[in-house]
Amino acid sequence: MPYDMLVFGGTGDLALHKLLPALYHLHREQRLPASMRIIGISRKLLARQSYIELAERHCRAQIEGKDFIEASWQSFSQRLEYFAMNAEQTADFSRLGHFLATDSQRGCIYYLATAPHLFESIASNLALTGLAGGNTRIVIEKPIGHSLQSALAINNAIGKAFSEEQVFRIDHYLGKETVQNLMALRFANALFEPVWRSAHIDHVQISVTETLGVENRGAYYDHAGAMRDMLQNHLLQLLCLVAMEAPVRFDADSVRNEKVKILQALKPIHGLDVRDKTVRGQYSAGQIGGHSTPAYYFEKDVDNDSDTETFVAIEVEIDNWRWAGVPFYLRTGKRLANKASEIIIQFKPVPHSLFSDSQANHLLIRLQPEERISIELMAKTPGKGMHLEPVELEINLAKAFQDNRRWEAYERLLLDVIENDSTLFMRRDEVEAAWQWVDPILKGWQQHYQRPRPYPAGSSGPEQAHSLLEKNARAWHQ
Ligand code: BG6
Repeated sequence: MPYDMLVFGGTGDLALHKLLPALYHLHREQRLPASMRIIGISRKLLARQSYIELAERHCRAQIEGKDFIEASWQSFSQRLEYFAMNAEQTADFSRLGHFLATDSQRGCIYYLATAPHLFESIASNLALTGLAGGNTRIVIEKPIGHSLQSALAINNAIGKAFSEEQVFRIDHYLGKETVQNLMALRFANALFEPVWRSAHIDHVQISVTETLGVENRGAYYDHAGAMRDMLQNHLLQLLCLVAMEAPVRFDADSVRNEKVKILQALKPIHGLDVRDKTVRGQYSAGQIGGHSTPAYYFEKDVDNDSDTETFVAIEVEIDNWRWAGVPFYLRTGKRLANKASEIIIQFKPVPHSLFSDSQANHLLIRLQPEERISIELMAKTPGKGMHLEPVELEINLAKAFQDNRRWEAYERLLLDVIENDSTLFMRRDEVEAAWQWVDPILKGWQQHYQRPRPYPAGSSGPEQAHSLLEKNARAWHQ
């Protein structure tokens, strides 16, 4: 059946910077269904031609020179349509119905690239006007709510209009190449399984650091903060993929069944544990790449007395057989010294050391800036005497597969929606289990009035984030 893709928030940053360039790439590689229209939707009164020009300006800026091919753009632009409407007015959905009704056999994929407060209204209006039938799918972006209660309200509203199989909750980290390689590494190589447990692993670090500040998103970010923006979703999803058991099959429900078990096994952090196991930070003025940057509370649309965290570090425990006693340290923050997303599996030292300079091994899984997996092993240095040094055994994924174009996460995920494969999307119970664990921490911060610790832009975050590991003689990987 032919499908159209309708992008609510069609003139917003996400649509213009990520979704349209990703759809263009899929079109250029002839992966989009031939008759699929892409319909941008927003309140702005725009003619179709103006929308095409807006899309072209952004796609040209986003897409690397050699990949922007004029002829492909011309044919891609023929798919583009535009529809102006108010997503809170039922009558406008009826108009949308007429606009689409040229062919009742077509299916619709609704992509909600809008502010989350519109999700409920869009879903219920689609249902009210008969636009949420069996031939439809809906894609929603994080954050899904700002607490368990609000996530339940969104999921209920979406659930009234669409069955769970029709709902795709996107987390773009799951579309990243190395994240999927993590599953390949764990479940396609017999080598790792025997040591992937508390008997051999000392601790795990999951670290997502950014150099960017809040840019133009101050209004959203000041109500969200690093916990809701990054940790509740991206970092917990990475944790699930590191910690989950092997699914029985590589299909949507088998994978998600295993992930949700991990989320349900996260040891709750409440009361005074919030103070001992979590660190909130907020960037102050500093220097990034030789440029001075302002303090967070001077950013556009941010309250100048804001106590929103732009950094969070947490010590997490998983209460199950495989992971009992193994801390998972999670940290994420904006305006830090560099941009890097990585997972470190730190193994225990050898049980009896023969060499004074021996160190415990670690496995590094780097998602960005480069895609790389490496193991640090101890080796003897050449020459006389048994002097050891760590050496890296590296899989450079970009080099190993240099003839393959690197896909952006959104390309893969959009194609999965079109092909109706929800393996890399979050199921309702996952989102709710994640909020269930996060809510008491947010409450604890409020109850104990734990203000974020300042850290200078361009640093590695607040001192307390280092103490979180140092108290157990550990340190963040540099
Ligand atoms: C988004 C967050 O989900 O992820 C942003 O809302 C963040 O605040 C971004 O900057 C980071 O994504 P990536 O792919 O650049 O690591």
